[in-house]
Amino acid sequence: MDHTEVGRYWDENAEAWTKLSRAGYDVYRDYLNTPAFLTMLPDVKGHLGLDIGCGEGHNTRLLAERGARVIAIDISTVFIQHAKQLEEQESLGIDYQVASAVELPFADAAFDFTTGFMSFMDIAETGSVIAESYRVLKPGGFLQFSITHPCYDTPHRRNLRDEKGLTFAIEVGGYFENLAGDIAEWLFSAAPQQIKAGLPKFKIPRFTRTISQWLNLLIETGFLLEHISEPRPSDQTVYDCPNIQDTQVVAYFLHVRARKPEKGIMLSRKPG
Ligand SMILES: C[S@@+](CC[C@H](N)C(=O)[O-])C[C@H]1O[C@@H](n2cnc3c(N)ncnc32)[C@H](O)[C@@H]1O
Repeated sequence: MDHTEVGRYWDENAEAWTKLSRAGYDVYRDYLNTPAFLTMLPDVKGHLGLDIGCGEGHNTRLLAERGARVIAIDISTVFIQHAKQLEEQESLGIDYQVASAVELPFADAAFDFTTGFMSFMDIAETGSVIAESYRVLKPGGFLQFSITHPCYDTPHRRNLRDEKGLTFAIEVGGYFENLAGDIAEWLFSAAPQQIKAGLPKFKIPRFTRTISQWLNLLIETGFLLEHISEPRPSDQTVYDCPNIQDTQVVAYFLHVRARKPEKGIMLSRKPG
C-alpha cells in the first residue's frame, strides 16, 4: 500500500474524525499527547514551520497561537477543507495545502522547523517522510514529531485489566513484524455509544516500525537526535480524565526532536 491509497482511507475517515475530535473525544491527544508535545517544543515565535499530516488542523492552530508562521499539509482533501473552513472563520494566518509528506512541494531549506503530530507512523514510506522533512529544513532547523510508541503499539496488543477495570499491564507481540497497511478499525473510546453508533469506524492503515528502525532512519538521514520523550500523565490528569489511565502503565506515545546540522553532511542513505 502506498501513500495515495493511504490517503483514500484518511479521506474516508476525515468527516467522523473531525466531528469527534472537535467535540472533545480525542482525549489521549487533548489530555496527554499535545500538552507534552508543546512542553517539549522550542520557542517557535516568528519562525516559519511546516506541519506535516495536519488533519483538521487542531495542533497546527496551537503552533500558530504560539506565534509561528505555519504552512500545513495533509494528503486528505476532506481534512484540508475542514481546516480551511475554520481558518476562514478565525484566521491565524495558516496556509493549508493538500500534499503528500513523501513528496513535499517546497524548496530545499525553506523552513525553520517541521512538525508531525501523530502522522509519521501512518505513512508507508517512512524513509521518504524523514528525508523530505530533512530536505525542506534550513541548516540548524529542527523536526519534532510524535508517533504511537513502537514498543507498545505493536501488531498484537491487549490491555490486561484488574477487577475494577483498571489496566495493570499491556500484552504486546509481533514487535519485529513491519505491518504494511493492515487495517485497524476503531472510534475514539471516549465518545459515548449513542454518538459512535451513527458513525462508520475509522479504517486506519498501520505501518509498524521498531524503535531502532525509527532512530536509525533519523541518524542515517543526517539528523542529530536532540530530545526524546515518553509522556506519562500525572495522577491529577488521570483523575480529570480516567479514560487515559492506561497511559500511566506503559508509554503510548514517543516524541522525538531532531536537528539538521548547521553544516550540511552527506546523506548516508537514499530516501525510500
Ligand atoms: C492520526 S492523524 C493526525 C492528524 C493531526 N496531525 C492531529 O494531530 O490531529 C494522521 C494524519 O496523517 C495524514 N496522512 C497520512 N498519510 C499522509 C501523507 N502521505 N502525507 C500527508 N499526510 C498524511 C492523514 O490524512 C491524517 O490526517
